[in-house]
Amino acid sequence: MKVLGIETSCDETAVAVVEDGRILSNLIGSQVELHARFGGVVPEIASRAHVEALDPLLGQALEQAGCRFRELDGVAVTVGPGLAGALLVGIAAGKAVAFATGVPLVGVNHLEGHIYANFLEHGPPAPPYVCLVVSGGHTMLVHMEQEHRYRVLGQTLDDAAGEAFDKIARFLGLGFPGGPALDRLARDGDPDAIRFPRSMANSGDYDFSLSGLKTAVLRHVKAEKAAGRDVDLADLAASFQEAIVDVQVSKTMSAAKETGAGTVLLGGGVVANTRLRERMERAGSEQGVRVLFPPIELCTDNGAMIARAGASRLERGERTSFDVGADPALELAG
Ligand code: KG4
Ligand code: ZN
Repeated sequence: MKVLGIETSCDETAVAVVEDGRILSNLIGSQVELHARFGGVVPEIASRAHVEALDPLLGQALEQAGCRFRELDGVAVTVGPGLAGALLVGIAAGKAVAFATGVPLVGVNHLEGHIYANFLEHGPPAPPYVCLVVSGGHTMLVHMEQEHRYRVLGQTLDDAAGEAFDKIARFLGLGFPGGPALDRLARDGDPDAIRFPRSMANSGDYDFSLSGLKTAVLRHVKAEKAAGRDVDLADLAASFQEAIVDVQVSKTMSAAKETGAGTVLLGGGVVANTRLRERMERAGSEQGVRVLFPPIELCTDNGAMIARAGASRLERGERTSFDVGADPALELAG
């Protein structure tokens, strides 16, 4: 089954063709430079850039896949969560392709896409799974007893993990997006240099909170400057990252233990983080749990993950009607 995947929920215009779990093409038109000078994604700029980029990208993705529009078996498009205007651009394109070719349309939840990015790399492992979704907008632990069935175990009460990386990077003048910059800096730093708070590490549930950590980092930098000391950015980045990763690893492993899930699936842009990958892998082998994550380029937003999740829904006979709209706050479970 050849499925076209379209993703425009935030600041990447992404189109892919996936055939039976194999990526034939996976193109991303990044808008990072358009938003960088604002220090974050500007929704109206994102929508306009999607309008400009999507049509040529669709043509290129099909060409690279060696596939004509009429040879597609389905069209999968992100319908939420995300920026309303940005989502609508992709949805309109998806409907147009599906209508013109007569192939079925399926709407995909962006977070489900992040989870299914694992299936592109590892094939579908046997459920049940515990999934940790950590992106620019979400930090969420999910129990998945079977495919497409989600029970949210916990989520962030304030900032998402990626958002915390981006805010701290902006504060330190490292540019946008902040995750990759902090990740690089942290490689030369000591994760134990500064003991930042591990908020909610012992809360006994699966919720997260990152606002206390953010404040602690700001306070630390201000205090060091006031004392006339230079801040070692590598140590700061490594210590900040460690505080986030510690809590994510321990809660994910507790969730795997409590639910009895033998497989942990990691998804979302923050899973590109070197330390998170290392620590999760180590914790998994210690606890006898299989920890899977996508290759770096499939962690951040892409069209292939949407095509893969959509293909699985299409195979189950699911169809989305042409009156579907964008749902900026679409829930995973339900
Ligand atoms: O999943 P994604 O591409 O977009 C959303 O759905 O939000 O995630 C983007 C987020 C950004 O906040 C970015 O800073 C973060 O993922 N990110 C990272 C790394 N690469 C991207 N965070 C930590 N370490 C990284 N290497
Ligand atoms: Zn994402």
